[in-house]
Amino acid sequence: MTRPLSFVVAITGASGAIYAVRTLRALLAAGHHVHLVMSKYGRYVLHEELGWEADRESIVEFLVRKGGEEVRNGSLEEHGVNDLTQSISSGSSRIGGMIVVPCSAKTLAAIAHGTSSNLIERSADVTLKERRPLVLVVRETPMNLIQLRNMVTVAEAGATVLPAMPAFYQKPQTFDDLGDFIAGRALSLLGLDHELFERWTGPN
Ligand SMILES: Cc1cc2nc3c(=O)[nH]c(=O)nc-3n(C[C@H](O)[C@H](O)[C@H](O)COP(=O)(O)O)c2cc1C
Repeated sequence: MTRPLSFVVAITGASGAIYAVRTLRALLAAGHHVHLVMSKYGRYVLHEELGWEADRESIVEFLVRKGGEEVRNGSLEEHGVNDLTQSISSGSSRIGGMIVVPCSAKTLAAIAHGTSSNLIERSADVTLKERRPLVLVVRETPMNLIQLRNMVTVAEAGATVLPAMPAFYQKPQTFDDLGDFIAGRALSLLGLDHELFERWTGPN
């Protein structure tokens, strides 16, 4: 089993809240510690797409409702998006890597240009400068030239762009299956083992 570690997960205001929920579920079920940061519109898509009522249910209760009791195997620390005093603002924090899921074109642009103006952008900046894995689950379609160039910029700086493009050769039956495909690819990029989907091993 992989040694439990701390990871940063950021949720921004792109469509695809299911990818965030399945990624959090996978990390927490495996017993890891998660530093969670949500932008204003990241919270909004969790509400709009998956029905999270933040005033009635904590994020952990919501994840348990969506992902089952095994979510409680890990631990989750939520940080305010505008609070730059948190440990994950600093390169000295002991973090195994960061996933931005889903990643909006706006946050992609901010990371590409190193603006560090909120905790998501700062933490991504730190992840890059410390040469830790940074996975951006970018979701927008179609893409303009600015967005395409920003993806090249972050890739050149060391991030991995993991577009929210699930595969269909595993014959997904549910939205959770689609979410698990992206979650599994993101976990692999952090160096974590998982069994979130059946790997392709060739024809028959
Ligand atoms: C319902 C909804 C869906 C959205 N979907 C996307 C999307 O898929 N991709 C994207 O780049 N922006 C999308 N946006 C726009 C972003 O939320 C907006 O650009 C916001 O400023 C992003 O800020 P953030 O990165 O700090 O969350 C969406 C907005 C709303 C309200």
